[in-house]
Amino acid sequence: MAEGIQFDVDGNAFLAQPGETVASAMLRLQLVPFRFHPVDTSPRGPFCMMGVCHECLIEVDGKPGQQACLLPVVPGMSVRRPLNG
Ligand code: FES
Repeated sequence: MAEGIQFDVDGNAFLAQPGETVASAMLRLQLVPFRFHPVDTSPRGPFCMMGVCHECLIEVDGKPGQQACLLPVVPGMSVRRPLNG
């Protein structure tokens, strides 16, 4: 079995590297966009990677509006992309 931290995105299993944030792991895995803008429907994803822009908001373990760039991946974490706004 490959080494890494297992987590899932939209019900699919992936491996993160130790120390990766949710945003960095998802970008590496090409899991973009994170969501679509609720008004103009443009695709959205991480921009600043340091907790300022809020473009990386995502649902983590059932909690919406989490900043993916600030959250380290932990084993068993479940991420959902709110692709409808
Ligand atoms: S990428 Fe800017 S707050 Fe997360």
